[in-house]
Amino acid sequence: CTEGGMPTAEVKFNADGWMLNKNFMKYADRIKNFKVRPDDVWILSFPKCGTTWSQEMLWLLINNCNLEEANRIELYTRAPFLELKPICSEGFDMADSITAAEELPSPRLIKSHLPPDLLPSEIWTVKPKLLYVYRNPKDVAISYCHHYRLFNEYTGSQDLFIEAFLQDKVMFSPFWKHVLAYWNRRDLPQLKFITFDDMKKDLRSVLKSVAEHLNVTIPADREDEVLDHLSFARMSKNPMVNFEAERKEMGKLDQHFIRKGETGQWKKTLSEELVTRFDSWSNSFLAGSDFPYYS
Ligand code: A3P
Repeated sequence: CTEGGMPTAEVKFNADGWMLNKNFMKYADRIKNFKVRPDDVWILSFPKCGTTWSQEMLWLLINNCNLEEANRIELYTRAPFLELKPICSEGFDMADSITAAEELPSPRLIKSHLPPDLLPSEIWTVKPKLLYVYRNPKDVAISYCHHYRLFNEYTGSQDLFIEAFLQDKVMFSPFWKHVLAYWNRRDLPQLKFITFDDMKKDLRSVLKSVAEHLNVTIPADREDEVLDHLSFARMSKNPMVNFEAERKEMGKLDQHFIRKGETGQWKKTLSEELVTRFDSWSNSFLAGSDFPYYS
């Protein structure tokens, strides 16, 4: 935290100014040189865009919709978060997430919030399948505030958090640079761009189009079960995806990770002034772009 209790990441990493923890510097080369496999699948996103939701969907798709195993093993073990260890503070007791990803048998699903230029170089030469999920930044900011309260000991107000978000100070910012860096690569055949809103509107269609992108078939008798498993009602109660053990250990069982799962939550909680600021902040990045999903 800086003065005034505003949450920030610790350093601007490179010329693009990605906001990361200082500790990341020690791991950046290891990540750059990470060996990518052609049959990997990578779930990429800015935090709070529906990563866990898409991650569970992808894991099921590349594992023949094996719901039994999904209900038995935690998602972060089945599909490691590559830079989790590097973004933890120095000295924090956390298993090496890069090693976990290295040691995972194929076909691997790997999660990352890194922008394209900080990912392993081989992502762009070996060309595994990539999925990027986008969500409206107004909802992302609210969700991220709750995340910082849950995992990062943030105790300030939502408005102050949003101030930090709009100043591109929170981890993995700048938000729009992140989204547009992937949007501008959307014509790469290996990359599919999806949105949280589309998942909310019609999960079956998204599931089918992602299966097509991965060249996998959904066992006919499993499709409805998979959609039920991916519903908010099920996922919010599923200890394999909702960080129940960690929340319990932190004494925060009443603070949920799979929290509201709504689109347009900002309409209920953001002041008119903040909405106007959000819009002009977004428009300043989106000017000249054909990005179609902002509202
Ligand atoms: P809210 O905090 O707005 O509820 P990420 O996995 O990228 O951290 O994103 C977390 C957000 O995705 C949370 O948003 C969470 O509730 C939402 N989410 C997770 N699973 C969901 C599901 N099955 N249906 C709808 N939203 C879901």
